[in-house]
Amino acid sequence: MRWLCLLALLVLAACQAQLPAFSLAPQSEPPVLPAEAAPPAPTPWRPVQPTPLGEPVSFPDCQPDPVEPYRFDPARVAPVALPQDSGPTLRRLAEQNGLMIGTSTAPSVFQNPNYTTITARESNIVAVENAMKWEVIHPQANRYDFKDGDATVDYALANGMQVYAHVLVWDLQQPEWLLKGQHTRDEWIGILCRHIKTVVGHYKGHIYAWDVVNEPFQNSGELRDTHWLRVIGPEYIAMAFYWARQADPEALLVLNEHFAEGLNEKSDAVYSLAQGLLRRGVPLDAVGLQMHVWLYGPPTAADLEANMRRLMDLGLYVHITEMDVRTQLSHDPLSKELAEQAEVYRQTVSACRRVPACTVFITWGLTDSYNWISSYTGVEDYPVLFDRDFQPKPAYFAVLEALK
Ligand code: XIL
Repeated sequence: MRWLCLLALLVLAACQAQLPAFSLAPQSEPPVLPAEAAPPAPTPWRPVQPTPLGEPVSFPDCQPDPVEPYRFDPARVAPVALPQDSGPTLRRLAEQNGLMIGTSTAPSVFQNPNYTTITARESNIVAVENAMKWEVIHPQANRYDFKDGDATVDYALANGMQVYAHVLVWDLQQPEWLLKGQHTRDEWIGILCRHIKTVVGHYKGHIYAWDVVNEPFQNSGELRDTHWLRVIGPEYIAMAFYWARQADPEALLVLNEHFAEGLNEKSDAVYSLAQGLLRRGVPLDAVGLQMHVWLYGPPTAADLEANMRRLMDLGLYVHITEMDVRTQLSHDPLSKELAEQAEVYRQTVSACRRVPACTVFITWGLTDSYNWISSYTGVEDYPVLFDRDFQPKPAYFAVLEALK
């Protein structure tokens, strides 16, 4: 009998040796992962939106203008060659955290290999800086120009990056023909509907998110007196989201605003508008917080987080869509300014990481030389993560740390 027992034990031991280590572990213990395995990506947050009150909204429909759809052809554009060995990058860390990270971009810099390489190394999403604005993409009533937009999407897709498309309705960078046009309200509705359906339809299936309505409010929280408010009335906002969803059901639809990051009259207005749209069943997926801030007086991390959380509680994603931190008006030595700037970036990314609905972080420009702030303000500035020699600044390392 003793021999029989010994034999049984030997057979059992032999069986164990054949099996993966974790299969014989007690049920309650987690499997043992190989040492080099990456930690599992966190379970993504999914929005739960309220059931709309009453009948879902519906607006006059239109046919898009006849344009060729965009198609991605890998033979048209080669991916940039990235060094194999590079250590942690913003892109890698963001991907481990289930975050989208990137910068705005434009074809004017695609000839610069420093620019294209760093963008592709550090980003898994790029925002379209100017190429899809009305004056560029729809310069005349009966003419669309998709050249720059297509080139930007080509660059993104060739390098495995997503596209944050910008922008369908905004009061700036609109063409003359639009601003000088004399039309009835119904005709304006048709013009806006066709523009949205044509442009969104052209890129259908290739866009991660669309900024549908940009900067609709004044700082006081009243609706901004825009062309579209004057010719259609406040319903232009709901209409734009409605047609955008019809034209591309997959793209996230975003209401984008500036100076509405913390808690103030403007962010209250954004919140109320978003809440009202969702109650009416208007398709809205995210609020974009542009985050163009100054070294002095950026929103506090607590206010930023509280604002993000209340939007999350509405069932919306929150995206940081255009961050830059102006150093001008600060009179400290540059090294001190850059250290303070790094802190503002760190606080913002950390707040974003604490709020599960915050899934996108984009800076408006990659380097301090290719950047809109200096030309817009006429004053030298150093607002983003890389310096004029394409070197990472303290702000870059702060974002990197905040992602770890
Ligand atoms: C800016 C571009 O970066 C500039 O190149 C252009 O001359 C003006 O517009 N908020 C927005 C962006 O939503 O579209 C703006 O982009 C910056 C402010």
